[in-house]
Formats: sequence, structure tokens, C-alpha cells
Amino acid sequence: MNKNRTCVLWLTGLSASGKTTIAQKVKELLSDSSLKIHHLDGDEVRTAAKEKLGFSKEDRDKNIKLAISLAKNYQEKGYVVIASFISPYRYHREWGRESLINYVEIFVNTPLEVCEQRDPKGLYKKVRAGDIKQFTGIDDPYEEPQNSDLEIRTDNLNVDQCANLIITYLKDSGMLC
Ligand code: ADX
Repeated sequence: MNKNRTCVLWLTGLSASGKTTIAQKVKELLSDSSLKIHHLDGDEVRTAAKEKLGFSKEDRDKNIKLAISLAKNYQEKGYVVIASFISPYRYHREWGRESLINYVEIFVNTPLEVCEQRDPKGLYKKVRAGDIKQFTGIDDPYEEPQNSDLEIRTDNLNVDQCANLIITYLKDSGMLC
């Protein structure tokens, strides 16, 4: 990465699409570089938020605004930021592109059926049982990106391959030497 440059790798996609796993792998692959890297994850930011945030449209907006302000702070301190948030509305990602330096939007495109099969936290099961409402992709919207910088289909690739697509993108765009 050019020392004077920072970037925000913004991973958007459904719950269980693989955002967090890919983000962790990218962080690991970049750990040998001299870069300072910070990973911001939806679950962690929600837990750390002063106000308890749920999944209404209003609370998701607040969560994304908080994520963007944290990403901005880390960028100012010279960090490369990897952010993994469902960020279901197009305007969420537009906020990121407008507010952050070198914003790279990465669509972790995993079909809903695959996310539901993976179901690592058992949430889809609860949704189908009627125990969770307003779940993204089921009874709450996910607006697919139309102009993402990179799209990754995780159903045909393993985690290393997905993370390497991001590293290759960074190299090809001159952000990583
Ligand atoms: S966002 O919509 O505000 O961007 P965020 O990425 O922070 O969401 O958190 C999503 C995580 O919360 C999911 O991966 C899932 O584990 C959990 N979750 C719990 N309830 C919901 C819900 N109703 N919709 C989506 N995700 C949910």
C-alpha cells in the first residue's frame, strides 16, 4: 500500500454470506505488510454502541453512520480499515463512498439459499420458526449493489480464494505494492 494512502474495504452482503470470515482472512494476509489494519464488524460495533441498536431501518441507519464515523477515525490515524456490515440499503453504501477516502465496495454475493444452509448462528432457523422478524433477505430488504468495485461469489470459492481476489484488486488498482 502506498504509505500516503489508506482505504476502506467495505464488505456488504447478507447475514452468513461470509463477510466477517473474508475480512479476517484479508487482515491475516496483510499482516506481514507494514500496514496498520483495523477490522470493524457489525456485531462488534453494535455491542460497543452506547445506544442499544436493533434492526429497524432507523437503527440500521444509526449503526452504519456509527461504522462510517469509526472508519473515518481509524483512517485519520493511518489505518487501512476493513468493514463488514450487511449495510442493506444502497444509500448506506453511498454514505460510505461519499464520506471515506478510497472507499472500495465489495459485494459478498452469496445466494440466500446458501446463507441459509450455512446458518452458523442458527438465525435463519429462528426466522423460519417465526422467532426473528425484520431479517435481511427474508422479510427485510437487501438492495443488491449495482456499482460495487468488486463482487465475490463465495459459493464457488474457498475463503483463501475470496480473500486473494481482494488482495489482487488492491494490487491491480495500485493501492498495494
Ligand atoms: S446492518 O443491517 O446494520 O448492516 P450488521 O451487519 O451490523 O447489520 O449486523 C448483522 C448481523 O446481526 C447479522 O450477521 C446477524 O448475525 C445479526 N442479526 C440479528 N438480527 C438480524 C436481522 N433482523 N437482520 C439481519 N441481521 C440480523
